[in-house]
Amino acid sequence: MARMSETKIEATSRALRLGQYSRHIFLCVRGDCAPVEQSKESWTFLKRRLRQLKLDSALGGVYRSQVECLRVCLEGPIAVVYPDGTWYRRCTPEVLERIIQEHLLEGRAVEEYAFARNPLPNPDAPPLPDLGRDEAAGPGE
Ligand code: FES
Repeated sequence: MARMSETKIEATSRALRLGQYSRHIFLCVRGDCAPVEQSKESWTFLKRRLRQLKLDSALGGVYRSQVECLRVCLEGPIAVVYPDGTWYRRCTPEVLERIIQEHLLEGRAVEEYAFARNPLPNPDAPPLPDLGRDEAAGPGE
């Protein structure tokens, strides 16, 4: 039951179960890295399979987002799974099924289609340079 003082965005967050996921998969659907029909087919498949497996609603499940571009724009559809930061190419429904089964359910990256890694947080990332407070704060700060 919603709290009386709950704002609309808090209610939306609660309905989406934000805060209860263990992974987040982003899939590019714009159509420059792969034909748009193929990207949409992959997205439809991903949504359906996550729902069928109840991964979209389970505690510790998987949140999904379609995005306009992940800036790779080659060998798509491109996807990335966080917090692992595993980047995947050629994400057809068949490849997505492997990502779901092997990576999302069993925790093993699908090496055959993985092309980059950037886990978050990233223990191998170099420290941020000292940008200075004025530059880091941005305009108007
Ligand atoms: S259009 Fe898919 S990564 Fe840019």
